[in-house]
Amino acid sequence: QAAQKDGYKHFMLKEIFEQPKVIRDCLAGRIQKGRVVLTELDALDIPGRLTIVACGTSYHAGLWAKYLLESWARIPVQVEIASEFRYRDSVFLPDDLILTISQSGETADTLAAVRIAHEAGVPILGLCNVVGSSIARESDQVVYTQAGPEISVASTKAMCSQMVLLLLMTLSWGARKGTLPEEVKERCLEELAEMPTTLERDLPVIRGKARSLCQEYSDAKSFFFLGRGQNFPLALEGALKLKEISYIHAEGYASGEMKHGPIALIDPQFPTFAMALGDELLQKVASNLQEVQARGGRIIALVNPGAAPAVDESWVLPDVWGPLKSFLVLPAVQLFAYEMAVYLGKDVDQPRNLAKSVTVE
Ligand code: G6P
Repeated sequence: QAAQKDGYKHFMLKEIFEQPKVIRDCLAGRIQKGRVVLTELDALDIPGRLTIVACGTSYHAGLWAKYLLESWARIPVQVEIASEFRYRDSVFLPDDLILTISQSGETADTLAAVRIAHEAGVPILGLCNVVGSSIARESDQVVYTQAGPEISVASTKAMCSQMVLLLLMTLSWGARKGTLPEEVKERCLEELAEMPTTLERDLPVIRGKARSLCQEYSDAKSFFFLGRGQNFPLALEGALKLKEISYIHAEGYASGEMKHGPIALIDPQFPTFAMALGDELLQKVASNLQEVQARGGRIIALVNPGAAPAVDESWVLPDVWGPLKSFLVLPAVQLFAYEMAVYLGKDVDQPRNLAKSVTVE
């Protein structure tokens, strides 16, 4: 096992640091002459409506993609937790497509969703990491992520790989539909190709900051993770990671929803981890954070240079273009949870009560 860890103390850390390679591998052969090559999609009609079904971290990747798919491909998207989807009496439309996302391809609830869609005659596209897995086999088409084996129970690099492929799917459908301006597609592909180099340079810096922050905040019993827009799913993922491996209670919330109840919980012992990056929603997030501060809440905020609201701890990430900011936010929340778990002496790779793949209901 020590050899498999490549000198890293834990599989989780190794897998977080593999993300630059994962992005490269996911892009390999997928971009030709400025075009996205996803032949798996060619056999399917462009969906009139897309229903994404998944569990856990894969569900968060689906939620993240909804923002892009709606904006760039103008496809209406609903994202469903598989365990809910399977017992609802869903209404299907003639041009629906079901997209299931699963690292393992064996999650029981997600597999049940595939079977329900099959019964209803709705085409199914699987986004899986494990080749030949049950979900891959039972889907009409499958796109494979190239994350390589993921050993740590807490999923990290798989989400990064899912985000890359979901981005490519959006570009592909957006180009086919003519809803995506050519210059946006070009910029996106250029920036995506740069991302592995950016991450290789910045991951050690992000880890250092995560380590120093978690020492200071290790006495917290609860955390809020707040974000708006595409940062909302990442807030959910940040909270999930912290719960999974450090056993600190955490809730992910849409920043704008705080005022409808959760803000009542804020006090100096209940810190907030905010995504306050330099995007078009920054001013909205900043005003949400002022409300937290006014109630004595401490705030750690992921920010970009020059555009930061005044908070207790500004965690500056390099400024990259548009939705690609997420590829830096993701390792930041992963490393925060990782360093917190290490600091608290938890079993990072084998957290209590959790399984890598949940193959029973
Ligand atoms: C388990 C794992 C999670 C994972 C979820 C979905 O709960 O502990 O890390 O996100 O299953 O797994 P899947 O293989 O379907 O993506």
